[in-house]
Amino acid sequence: MRKLKLAVLISGGGTNLQALIDACNDPSYPAEIAVVVSNRPDAYGLERAKSAGISAECVDHKDYETREDFEDILHDRLKDHDVELVCLAGFMRLLTATFVGKWKDRMINIHPSLLPSYKGLHTHARAIEDGVRFGGCTVHFVRPEMDDGPIIMQAAVPIDANETEDSLAKKVLTYEHTLYPEAVRLVAEGKVRVSGQKCVFKDTDLGSVGLISPVPAN
Ligand code: GAR
Repeated sequence: MRKLKLAVLISGGGTNLQALIDACNDPSYPAEIAVVVSNRPDAYGLERAKSAGISAECVDHKDYETREDFEDILHDRLKDHDVELVCLAGFMRLLTATFVGKWKDRMINIHPSLLPSYKGLHTHARAIEDGVRFGGCTVHFVRPEMDDGPIIMQAAVPIDANETEDSLAKKVLTYEHTLYPEAVRLVAEGKVRVSGQKCVFKDTDLGSVGLISPVPAN
């Protein structure tokens, strides 16, 4: 079975990376991780990659004078491993339009909100503050604007009355761990493609069950 070659880019703990590693351990999964790259030497995700026997590399942005110099090296590393799809998984470095352009429709990101709401940081705290009923997470193709691009998958997660930023982050993260491997599977199996600003799907159940919160009394 031909497997799509992934790079996973991280900056931190790497629980989403772990979800991808676990998915790739299934022989029938249509992708494999060729390399994990962190922009921070102390990212725990690098240990996760090494434990799984995956090439783990650090391209420390602090070693480069400009964003472009950093990205040139990053691009070379990805090319060295014949990467076909770049998965940003808690990679907390903005990428230039030039780099994003080189990986157009071949780079995806996971973000902890229901995009296009709550781009940027502190998504859960802002959603709780606004009193919205659902938080969530999104996997999308990357475009030069931050947290922008055609949406592949989303999960909506109800916000409880006593929700805190931490409790919501934990709940959403468990959905992220389901979402990311499934989104990669859709890409790897050719079941999703970009058309204009949107994704279109083939042979894929988009679901039909709505959520209401608070739940109606009858
Ligand atoms: C995840 O919640 C991911 O959605 C978020 O960082 C966390 C990384 O966790 N990404 C962003 O906020 C990007 N805009 P992890 O290192 O345990 O996968």
